[in-house]
Amino acid sequence: MAPIINQWAVITIVLSGIALVIGVTFIRRGNREMHMRFMLLASVLATLFLVLYLTRLGLGYEKKYVGPAEWRGAYFALLITHILMAALNLPLAVGALYWASRGLRAAGNLSRIESVPQARAAFATHRRWTRWTVPVWLYVAVTGWIIYLVLGSYGQLSVR
Ligand code: HEM
Repeated sequence: MAPIINQWAVITIVLSGIALVIGVTFIRRGNREMHMRFMLLASVLATLFLVLYLTRLGLGYEKKYVGPAEWRGAYFALLITHILMAALNLPLAVGALYWASRGLRAAGNLSRIESVPQARAAFATHRRWTRWTVPVWLYVAVTGWIIYLVLGSYGQLSVR
């Protein structure tokens, strides 16, 4: 059971990273509606990942690194920054979503933002949050995938 949960955890976080890239591409092209949809999808997938990951931890499924000793330092640096960034990603994503929802409520709909000063201000704050949220989120998704691949070749299951 735990290995399947682990696989789904990796699948959801990778899909969440892909949805994030698509969502950001949409806003760069000015498509607010699709940006919103993909960012909500990315957030749901990231939440699902968190649930699966915590379930897996609860089941005591853990893999130890048993690969080449000269790569040990690099692997742990990756693992520690991954965990720290993942913890940071949660409040950053919540902040970005919060300011987007405040802006949307103030404007009524996505096409009225420019004509409502509170909505403009809320989305300016949204933009400031996303400057950190997007790179941190991408880092977590990419390093998570790398760690999964490394442990696929050099991981040993430790049963608690
Ligand atoms: C955590 C989820 C989200 C992230 C990471 C995110 C990311 C971004 C990014 C990178 C930009 C472009 C910033 C720039 O131009 O420099 C942006 C703009 C924008 N986002 Fe989001 N977004 C998220 C959720 C949402 C949601 C749910 C909505 C819909 C309510 C939304 C609506 C907008 C709008 C309208 C803009 C344009 C703001 C402007 O140009 O003033 N975003 N977002």
